[in-house]
Amino acid sequence: MIWQRADCFREINDRILEGGSLLCGDALSMDLTHFFGQVQCVYLDPPGETGVRFECKMRVGETGWVNSRQAVWLPAYADMSGRGGTSRGDFLRALLDLSHELLHETGSVFLHTDFRTSARDRLLMDEVFGADNFRNEIVWGYQTGGRSKRCFSRMHDTILFYARSPAHFFDLGGVPVKRKESRSNHLKRLVDERGRSYRSIKTGGKVYVYYDDEPVYPDDVWSDVSQLQQKDPQRTGYPGQKPQALLDRIILSTTRPGDLVADLTCGSGTALASAAANDRRFLGVDSSACAFSVCRKRLDDYRMVCQSPLSQSGAMLDASVLPGIGYYTVTLNALTLPEEELKDFRREPADLRLRGLDGVDQWYAGLMSNGVFVAYASSLRSKGNPGIARSLEVPLLRGTVAVMVMDVLGRRTLWTGSSAV
Ligand SMILES: C[S@@+](CC[C@H](N)C(=O)[O-])C[C@H]1O[C@@H](n2cnc3c(N)ncnc32)[C@H](O)[C@@H]1O
Repeated sequence: MIWQRADCFREINDRILEGGSLLCGDALSMDLTHFFGQVQCVYLDPPGETGVRFECKMRVGETGWVNSRQAVWLPAYADMSGRGGTSRGDFLRALLDLSHELLHETGSVFLHTDFRTSARDRLLMDEVFGADNFRNEIVWGYQTGGRSKRCFSRMHDTILFYARSPAHFFDLGGVPVKRKESRSNHLKRLVDERGRSYRSIKTGGKVYVYYDDEPVYPDDVWSDVSQLQQKDPQRTGYPGQKPQALLDRIILSTTRPGDLVADLTCGSGTALASAAANDRRFLGVDSSACAFSVCRKRLDDYRMVCQSPLSQSGAMLDASVLPGIGYYTVTLNALTLPEEELKDFRREPADLRLRGLDGVDQWYAGLMSNGVFVAYASSLRSKGNPGIARSLEVPLLRGTVAVMVMDVLGRRTLWTGSSAV
């Protein structure tokens, strides 16, 4: 079978579980008017102001996924420098204006920031959402990070929470937390006449009673959510990835099942993964091809519309198609990436050579029809599944058999077989 490069303006990941939309591009240049007024929660975690250029370690081939010793480092994104170049303030202001348009009257917005930018960010949030709609300055305290001798160690991020209007939806009952034993140790422990244990304290002439079996709710200091550990199974390798527990709390307290959650700088897709896992729909945007690749893999269990530029790399595909009863079997034999396309990337080992399907990080088999590629089956490398399936099945429906490959350089190529149905 002869495979030719194809173009598509949209990709649909055909799955039963409802997901949403994943778009690769500059959030400020994208036409999101279709979503205006539809979003219940916007979470933003934009680049900071450290000036650092972040890379993402992409494991290569089965060996890379088994022992991590075969990899390429891809550019992920760059923080802004705070000196010259595009101003983070201008970028953020435009992002907040867009978020304001996206939000439903009852919606909320959360801006993840840090000690470098939080004061200026708060003033911008006041301008766009109104100081009256300020709800919380959440302190996310964690235990990891550098120790300082010149000042107190900086061990928290700030998350600014604003409502779109006074009619915003908020459900504290959706996010109960474990009771902090250490905090109530000084209280008197008692048991009431029905056998319920409680702690009690008398202060200022009033008696306060806390039943052990009553749920407790978070305040604005979140120190019970830890940073991702080095070996955390959630880790995708994408820089700046936040723990899902943090996003679960944000999403569960401000949305209902079926609501739309948007993240316009979605990175590895933590907010989208949290939305999907909690039966909410998502809208994810990121300008980094590497972020798209990571998110595409992370959200593969969900039905979603994807848009991302296709690469014109010199890669060559060797695959075959066998019609069966009710489906095609598509077999991937090899993907050849030209050596010169690899040489600009930091590699481990430095003389890394790709063989067979080493260059494939994810592949999808499906059908092309009217410029839309529908992916019916996929194979994705992961720690639990380091190999790649050679064959995938596609239902015998109208359209041209097509293969989408996400390679280890984060590029996306689409190919159609020569026989149309
Ligand atoms: C700190 S990371 C987000 C991490 C994310 N919260 C997670 O848990 O993985 C910031 C992201 O903003 C993205 N970004 C920067 N400028 C952008 C733009 N103009 N449009 C969309 N995304 C952008 C970067 O590519 C990067 O992935």
